[in-house]
Amino acid sequence: MPIIPESYNFTGKMFAPNGPFYPILGLASLVAFIYMSFGDLRFILFEEPNFSFVSKNGTQFLLDGRPFYINGWNSYWLMDNAVDEFSRRRVSAVLQAGSKMGLTVCRTWAFNDGSYHALQISPGQFNERVFKALDHVIAEARKYEIRLILSLINNLHAYGGKTQYVKWAWQDGIGISSSNDSFFFDPSIRTYFKNYVKAVLTRRNTISGIEYRDDPTIFAWELMNEPRCMSDPSGETLQDWIKEMSAFVKSIDKKHLVTVGLEGFYGPKSSKSTLNPSAWEATLGTDFIRDSQLSTIDFASVHIYPDHWLSTDKVEEKLGFVKKWMLSHIEDGDKQLMKPVMFTEYGLSNQNKGFEPSDRDKLIEIVNDIIYESAKRSQSGAGSLLWQFFVGGMEEYNDDFGIVPWERRSTSDVITKQSCRLALLYGRSPLRGNLKELCSHR
Ligand SMILES: *[C@@H]1O[C@H](CO)[C@@H](O)[C@H](O)[C@H]1NC(C)=O
Ligand SMILES: *[C@@H]1O[C@H](CO)[C@@H](O)[C@H](O)[C@H]1NC(C)=O
Ligand SMILES: *[C@@H]1O[C@H](CO)[C@@H](O)[C@H](O)[C@H]1NC(C)=O
Repeated sequence: MPIIPESYNFTGKMFAPNGPFYPILGLASLVAFIYMSFGDLRFILFEEPNFSFVSKNGTQFLLDGRPFYINGWNSYWLMDNAVDEFSRRRVSAVLQAGSKMGLTVCRTWAFNDGSYHALQISPGQFNERVFKALDHVIAEARKYEIRLILSLINNLHAYGGKTQYVKWAWQDGIGISSSNDSFFFDPSIRTYFKNYVKAVLTRRNTISGIEYRDDPTIFAWELMNEPRCMSDPSGETLQDWIKEMSAFVKSIDKKHLVTVGLEGFYGPKSSKSTLNPSAWEATLGTDFIRDSQLSTIDFASVHIYPDHWLSTDKVEEKLGFVKKWMLSHIEDGDKQLMKPVMFTEYGLSNQNKGFEPSDRDKLIEIVNDIIYESAKRSQSGAGSLLWQFFVGGMEEYNDDFGIVPWERRSTSDVITKQSCRLALLYGRSPLRGNLKELCSHR
């Protein structure tokens, strides 16, 4: 199976296949020569005009002085696939596809602890080859003008996660508990994690020469993918961890936004706990409002998985839940948190009874409409990231939520429509590259 269809040829700015290839090579060697002579000229090469940091103002993200509402996606697998030559082009393929649909942000893993292709082999020990893969991901994202939300650890087992840190502490003979939640409260494990965070944030990208903490390609740091601390349903343990780790990130990096990575469940004491899919979600040791309220957390994150969370088979009921869930969290952002709220994962499983791909289009449309309405009213619903895109030839990275972005015209149309209207709303003009062409037909 070809990795990308004919129509998705690589036409990235830097290596246009039909373009003046030899002159580019000539320029490249000239630049290489100059670089060797003058060192830091490579910074100039990568410093594209107006590629600036995303910041926030109250409940809105700002980019270049204007409100910035986001249409984006998840591809968790970028670093892993950038390690080996044969799979590296998948990274460019998906970034390019996202860019062609006008997407502006991709969320991905900046961790792999102790697994195959581990970035962190053991506490504080890094595989330089994998770090270079992450360098590549960031440099490629910039090329396609995609900003990245980089997640720093997994709550779940995949790619190591908190369980791996606990194992390490146990093996080193310093772990105080074998519970995988000791990740949050064991002081030695907190130190392991801080060392990791520091290594990533201060990493100098071998391609661009820019330290990660100074790189505007990075939209934000996410502390953890879907933190839960079920051993302490009061939420104290996790709250304390979030407080310490977000302050630690800020002590190293004041330029980037920070988010937690929560699923968005309300805690047992929250007046909104009845909005959770069921009573169980209030027992997971998290509370959306309290955890997101910390001053070192810049924006709130929420996930939306009606298939996993609701027992009903009826798509309509699921979509109804999605609306309520989103509006409730946007209200929190506007009235309680005074921060942007980003729906950092949402998707529909193809394992449902009677699943139709058009159900996904419906879900995307509902999510997009709510974000668009929020954007029109300058509200806190700041964007959404679809879970997840992959490309052909990598089925092992698919899950029951995967979408090959160019496979269904109706899906890519729904997505592109959102990019266009969000860009036009705040007069991002001239619309860049493809988007200019795409949006002019609307
Ligand atoms: C960069 O932004 C400034 C103002 O923010 C604008 O005047 C200028 O035209 C922009 N340059 C490019 C190349 O887009
Ligand atoms: C920041 O928010 C304030 C209050 O909502 C608003 O008056 C101001 O124009 C905003 N600034 C920018 C740069 O958007
Ligand atoms: C954490 O440990 C508990 C109890 O051993 C186990 O049931 C659970 O699956 C583990 N969770 C993760 C994410 O490792």
